[in-house]
Amino acid sequence: MAVLEQQKGHVKDIGLADQGKDKIEWAATFMPVLAQIRDRFAKTKPLAGVRIGACLHVTTETANLMLALKAGGAEIVLCASNPLSTQDDVAAALCDYGIPTFAIKGEDNETYYKHIESVIATKPMMSMDDGCDLVTAIYTKHNALIADMIGGCEETTTGVIRLKAMQKDGVLPYPVVAVNNALTKHMFDNRYGTGQSTLDGIVRATNILLAGRTLVVIGYGWCGRGIAQRAAGMGAHVVVTEVDPRKAIEAQMDGYRVMMMSDAAKIGDIFVTVTGNYHVIREEHFKLMKDGAIVCNSGHFNDELDIDGIKRLSKGMNVPRNFVEQYELHDGRKICILADGRLVNLAAAEGHPPSVMDMSFANQAMAAGFIAQNYKTMEKKVYDVPVEIDEEVASLKLSSMGIEIDVLTPEQVKYMASWSEGT
Ligand SMILES: NC(=O)c1ccc[n+]([C@@H]2O[C@H](COP(=O)([O-])OP(=O)(O)OC[C@H]3O[C@@H](n4cnc5c(N)ncnc54)[C@H](O)[C@@H]3O)[C@@H](O)[C@H]2O)c1
Repeated sequence: MAVLEQQKGHVKDIGLADQGKDKIEWAATFMPVLAQIRDRFAKTKPLAGVRIGACLHVTTETANLMLALKAGGAEIVLCASNPLSTQDDVAAALCDYGIPTFAIKGEDNETYYKHIESVIATKPMMSMDDGCDLVTAIYTKHNALIADMIGGCEETTTGVIRLKAMQKDGVLPYPVVAVNNALTKHMFDNRYGTGQSTLDGIVRATNILLAGRTLVVIGYGWCGRGIAQRAAGMGAHVVVTEVDPRKAIEAQMDGYRVMMMSDAAKIGDIFVTVTGNYHVIREEHFKLMKDGAIVCNSGHFNDELDIDGIKRLSKGMNVPRNFVEQYELHDGRKICILADGRLVNLAAAEGHPPSVMDMSFANQAMAAGFIAQNYKTMEKKVYDVPVEIDEEVASLKLSSMGIEIDVLTPEQVKYMASWSEGT
């Protein structure tokens, strides 16, 4: 009750708590691995006394992660990792569960950063980021906190890239585990989660039929592969643009057309960026697009799209549906940007389904436990999730699905370890 009262004004409407709880419980039914870890944490309390500051998308799945960490003894405070991804009822429910939450869907940039500061004000000992905004704020503005920080976890590709850049520059303030690098994270979350939920976001925002349309995927990494595969499954003609020749040849052999962005811009009906890079669709491309083109981003930051570029080409903008910003260009063409270029799957839909976040967040929870146990010997480096954790998450997921797999025979173990046996 105390947290509920205290968080008024920091979430949209505390009155939404019951609705949020129903949704969190619904998601929990698809997260059996995280549930097992939560039960284990409740008995062993690996996070007793650890203050965690989390900056994550405030969704039903994140709420279940927060509850698992709390069961493990952590004191957690949460803010959003994107101004548009918060589910307001979930934020209210988290306050009701006693987890202070600072997040309002649609908050402006100033409030977004103010909310990050509110988390930092609680003096976290561990950070849990999705995109590295919390670590960056701690490093640049709150150096005094660093001495007491034992480590951090990072959820997404873009965050890991930023952390590795900090490590390279010698400014990484404490050890961080790259949860994204676990196979049971990016092979499933980035591919199948982003694949499905990005199309979900596009369809919910626009109600368009994908069959027969040309959908351009910009970036054929883990997310791009998933989006291309799902879009092709729904009958879209998929075009891929890349800068990495290895990914480009993979896309070509996976059956898609690969071409330069300047060519794709002329033929695409729908464009989705998932590169983690800057201005991959810019003014020169908007100039070439067809009337009615739909452009969105599912990468971490909205600067994958040059929003100022389309504004410069336009005489006006209207919003015919939620999350659809229709720009009218000086030459009369109309081009729609979805959700201000923010991650379309989280802004216009609900992000990844819980059954895939089950594995991501099982890794996240166990990585937090790992740091709490090992921080004294860890260096200021970006660590991969230990392979034992990754394998355990996969095994638990398989068993929750009722799937058994073979194990190596002793003979096979010996064979695989030897170099002497040949033809
Ligand atoms: N929407 C979500 O819920 C969600 C989930 C996971 C990851 N992400 C984010 O999505 C982005 C991509 O993640 P990923 O795991 O697929 O990364 P990845 O590194 O596997 O793939 C990115 C790809 O983009 C390509 N690329 C870079 N610049 C390009 C350009 N100018 N034109 C064309 N291709 C270019 C790279 O060569 C690479 O193949 C990141 O920002 C990540 O944080 C979003």
